Order: sequence, then C-alpha cells, then structure tokens
Amino acid sequence: MKGHQLLEQRLRAPLEEHEKLLLPRRWQILGDLVLVNIPTKIAHLKHEIGEALLDLYPRCKSVLWDKGVRGSLRTPEIEVIAGSGTRTVHKENRCKFALDASRVMFSAGNFAERVRMSTVGSNEKVLDMFSGVGQLSIPMAVHARPQSIAAIELNSVAYRYLRQNIRLNNVDGIVQPILGNCAHVTPNDQFDRVIMGHFDACDYLRKALRSLAPEGVVHYHEIVPLELMHKRPYARVEQAAQALARSADLLGTRKVKDYAPGIAHVVVDARID
Ligand SMILES: C[S@@+](CC[C@H](N)C(=O)[O-])C[C@H]1O[C@@H](n2cnc3c(N)ncnc32)[C@H](O)[C@@H]1O
Repeated sequence: MKGHQLLEQRLRAPLEEHEKLLLPRRWQILGDLVLVNIPTKIAHLKHEIGEALLDLYPRCKSVLWDKGVRGSLRTPEIEVIAGSGTRTVHKENRCKFALDASRVMFSAGNFAERVRMSTVGSNEKVLDMFSGVGQLSIPMAVHARPQSIAAIELNSVAYRYLRQNIRLNNVDGIVQPILGNCAHVTPNDQFDRVIMGHFDACDYLRKALRSLAPEGVVHYHEIVPLELMHKRPYARVEQAAQALARSADLLGTRKVKDYAPGIAHVVVDARID
C-alpha cells in the first residue's frame, strides 16, 4: 500500500473526495521527527494528519508541518501539528546529526550528496564554506578522514549544532568550526577541495577559487532550470576561474534533487588549475 493510502486509512475524520486527492504523498523522517508538507487547501485537517502520522510511526515523538525555508540562512518555517518537540539526533551513514528542525534545515533530498561527500577528501585540506550543522563535513570527516576541514557557518544556531556534531562524531581532530561569513572569515590558506553547498554560492565563487591550491577541486551547488543544468553552473565556475587567470576543467555535473517543477538543485565538480 502506498504512503498516502496508509495515511488515509489512519485518518479518523471522513474525507471529501477533493481532500483525499490533496493528502501528502510523502514525508521525511528525521531522527524521531516526522516532517510533512501539507497543501494549504487542507490546512483544516493538519491535526488529523499529524495524529495519523504519529500513529503510523510510533517511535516518533512529533509531526511537524514543513512550510519551507526562508532567507539566505535557510531558516525553516515549522509548525508542530502532533506530539511535541523539535530537537532530535538524526542518524544516517554511520553519522549522527543533532539539530532542532524548527531552527536549522536538513534536507532529506540531499542524502546521496552527503554519502558522495563521504567518499572524497582523504588526506586533503578541505574548506566547507557553508557548513550548516555539518551535513557534508561530518560524513567526509567520519569516512574519508581528510587532514583537516575548515567548516564555516554564519548562523549561530547552526554553528552551535555543528560544534555539537563534531563532538558527537569524534572528529574534533579533523573539523575546525568557524563562526562567521565565509566572505570574511575564510582562512588565508590553500585548500585541496572547497565545498560550496548553498544556493547563493555563485556570489562567493571567486573567494572559493582564490582559496584553492593548483589542481584543487570545487563542488559548486546551484539552483537551475533543467534545460540549463549542463550549461549555466559550469559556465559560472569557468568565468570565475578566468577572472583569476586560472583554468577550469569540468569533472562532472549531477542533479542533487528536483527542487521545483522544472528546476533542479545541481552540483558541479571542477578542477581548477
Ligand atoms: C542550505 S544550508 C546547506 C548546508 C550544507 N552545506 C548542505 O549542503 O546540506 C546553507 C548554510 O549556509 C549558511 N550560510 C549562508 N550564508 C553564509 C555565508 N555567507 N557564510 C557562511 N555560511 C553561510 C546558512 O546559515 C546555512 O546554514
């Protein structure tokens, strides 16, 4: 049986046909929280939907209506619709992420990218310019064991969780958390690899490439219309490299997830000489 059919079965209130069609078809389990996006046309059913999901996932403590993220700090807009509590420890790929889902974002759709980042960086000096709670730095540190990762985060709440996650995963010797704007606090050093996991990353491309050692690799993220995904993001990397009298070599472009109809979250890997 599909997720929305299970949900429909658990709902106590009888539903109109048009309400059934709008029921959420998927949700995210983050630690012991359920996050669900509910169409506003059935907002009146939010508590019933919340209770039904709690019924479906008895080990979860609360259900949160995920209304999206706001601003460049990607602050979540969340409403608790069943149970209580928004803090959790999410476990995946042998990593632990402590977080408060009402204050910091953690995207289920980026799972494959988090796993991919756990396979690169061995013995390297890495810079993570937008580290969040350590979504990409922690798996890399746990599995690939770089020499060091300078992990920068501007939002003090996310930074607090980043520090907690470094301790939780025993990677204090690898990840150095830095609070501040990467435009100003990036260490004056040469890195083998720079991660740019943020949708405003294009504004910081020159900064990133200046920090890359010759033959270093950048992972540049962008939100882009599907028809431009193999052109625009890499063209921006190439332009930034040329502006610094360096050259770029495309290693690959991959879709991290569908972001909206016709829009993709894409990551470009490029070597900068
Ligand atoms: C979308 S989250 C992504 C976290 C992680 N990189 C990932 O891919 O899952 C982006 C993070 O960058 C932080 N951020 C935004 N602008 C920043 C800046 N100028 N310097 C450092 N961090 C910044 C935000 O606070 C947020 O936590």
